[in-house]
Amino acid sequence: MANTTPTTNSLENYFLPFTANKDFKKDPRLLDRGEGVYYWNHKGDKVIDASSGLFCVPLGHGRKEIADAVHQQLLKLDYSPSFNVSHLPAFTLAEKLSKMLPGDLNNVFFSICGSTAVDSAIKIIQAYQHAIGQSHRMKFVSRERAYHGVNIGGTSLSGMIKNREVFTATMPGVIHLRHTWLEENKYTKGQPENGAHLADDLQRFVDMYGPESIAGCFVEPIAGSTGTLVPPKGYLEKIRATCDKYGIVLVFDEVITGFGRTGKAFGSIKYNVQPDMMTMAKGITNGAQPMGAVGVSDKIYNAIMDNGPEHGVEFFHGYTYSGHPACVAASLATLDIYEKEDIFARGEKMSSYFLDAVFDAFSNIPAVTDIRGDGLMAAIDLAVDKTPGVRGYDAQKKTFANGVHIKFTGDCGIIAPDLIAEESHIDEMLSKIKEVVSKY
Ligand SMILES: Cc1ncc(COP(=O)(O)O)c(C=O)c1O
Repeated sequence: MANTTPTTNSLENYFLPFTANKDFKKDPRLLDRGEGVYYWNHKGDKVIDASSGLFCVPLGHGRKEIADAVHQQLLKLDYSPSFNVSHLPAFTLAEKLSKMLPGDLNNVFFSICGSTAVDSAIKIIQAYQHAIGQSHRMKFVSRERAYHGVNIGGTSLSGMIKNREVFTATMPGVIHLRHTWLEENKYTKGQPENGAHLADDLQRFVDMYGPESIAGCFVEPIAGSTGTLVPPKGYLEKIRATCDKYGIVLVFDEVITGFGRTGKAFGSIKYNVQPDMMTMAKGITNGAQPMGAVGVSDKIYNAIMDNGPEHGVEFFHGYTYSGHPACVAASLATLDIYEKEDIFARGEKMSSYFLDAVFDAFSNIPAVTDIRGDGLMAAIDLAVDKTPGVRGYDAQKKTFANGVHIKFTGDCGIIAPDLIAEESHIDEMLSKIKEVVSKY
């Protein structure tokens, strides 16, 4: 294949996100091409993708159907506003998604990524509480170790210390449930037995601040970015019950867990707990275009509509690129493949092989201090080497050099293969990771 890689004489001008910029520029890790479960780097080396990019490529890289759909759409209608004007495919996508989503999440608001889905969800909750005469509810509940993106709303909800410590001007009134990692749950495959009691924190907040003080509660069904914290048995059910009792809107942030990662279409379906709203992104377009969405229950949508004027805007929020035609086309093509190839069932079937293989690979490695996972997502914690994060960063670089891409958060490696991965791919990625971490 002809080398079409653009050349550059400088790495200086790109200010990379969530990256050790200075160190990276000394020894960059550049991806040049992707196909199936593999990337190729700028030196031509093959790199197996053990984290589905950033958990967003369930169908593998280079899906021609998606690329073609985007191409055709851009030639036909490259851009359409979505304020008071729109285009038909966006409605088709909203309808398709609403049929996939659990319960009555029949109303779909489009954003441009997971972070904007989360911030949109915060504002939808505020609009809803206002519409029903509850705008005195000003608090939001999130959780320690939560990741809800990087906009100011999501940063405020964040429970990951590094993601919030220097950003002092966040939203007031956010309170955090305890996270659900417990010593006694170490080395659990699937849902841990212990920890449902941690959901009682929500009741304590209600007791502390008053029954009509909390507007909404955000939970990732599996806390993903922090390192695959699977919900303890009974935990999500308790959160749901408390939200019901006190009129708190429950949002499942399914930016990672959505579109088959847990073995079902959504974490909500897997764990059989219905949220009032759901945020999505990543797998919605197989990572091929930036897009996010919020699924909203009929009750919430109707309250906002009913509160609006007859001929005026009901919700003063949206993005220039909400429902962008190219993103919509990518999503329609992606959902089509999910259905035709029965991808979520495939992921579910592969899950036990995957989890067994992860546990087999890392159980006897001294530097690995915990393993956990569900569906096609697992995590290994590495023992801290003097300062938190140092070993994880070292492992990130060494695994890449060893031909595998894996996302590390601090000292935790998150393994999340594409849903199309074969057993041999899983074996390959795990053995390449193991070669590195067994040397610590
Ligand atoms: C649960 C969750 N919410 C929100 C986001 C933010 O998504 P994005 O990076 O597309 O803004 C992420 C990203 O990993 C996520 O995992």
